[in-house]
Amino acid sequence: MLKSDNYSKLQPMYPLLIQQFVDDYNLSKGIAVDIGVGPGWLGLEMAKITNMKIVFLDISQESLDLTKKNFQAMDVDNEVDFINADVQAIPMDDNFADFIMSRGSIWFWTEPEKGLREIHRILKPGGVAVVGGGLGRYLPETMRNRLQAALKQGLKERKEKRPSLEEFEAMVKKAELPDYRIFTDGDTSSGKWVEIRKMKQSSEEE
Ligand SMILES: C[S@@+](CC[C@H](N)C(=O)[O-])C[C@H]1O[C@@H](n2cnc3c(N)ncnc32)[C@H](O)[C@@H]1O
Repeated sequence: MLKSDNYSKLQPMYPLLIQQFVDDYNLSKGIAVDIGVGPGWLGLEMAKITNMKIVFLDISQESLDLTKKNFQAMDVDNEVDFINADVQAIPMDDNFADFIMSRGSIWFWTEPEKGLREIHRILKPGGVAVVGGGLGRYLPETMRNRLQAALKQGLKERKEKRPSLEEFEAMVKKAELPDYRIFTDGDTSSGKWVEIRKMKQSSEEE
């Protein structure tokens, strides 16, 4: 699945998407999990601008090895962990993560609703997860047009399709999550994301 060409074209997008997550959810410390990591750029960008511990989880050991290599080449000292597992059976306790992100991976899960429920299970009460695909809201228009064209071309070459927004909504609905919202990257883009929250019990509220 690793096509380094496609990832290098997308490279300028990762820091902007991470900045969006940091701004939207006020992230600075705690545990962040990156699920379906590819070469690890999302989690690695998160390490650059926060003090979060980054847990990289992927079904492919090859992806994790590459992520580890990319992490070692970077000048950051965040705590990190690498977990070789299927998102549909995450080997972690309940209430583990403050933030979970997964970009461009859900399209490959055989039972996405199971993966989404697992993500909700390992979220800490008060935590938030963002799962889906897209480029985020922070790209300048010229970059967005260029990267969208590259994504489209990549899908065509690999003979892959992505679900429509309606199909994505139906996929998420199947998970029966207690608290979620679907959002896009904005009017001009085809990004599709689900934000999943785990509510605090009333006894846990500050
Ligand atoms: C297209 S890549 C996305 C990489 C990265 N998140 C990004 O945005 O550049 C999809 C990744 O999801 C992983 N993946 C696919 N199915 C998975 C599963 N069931 N559980 C965990 N990871 C999975 C693949 O091994 C691959 O690393």
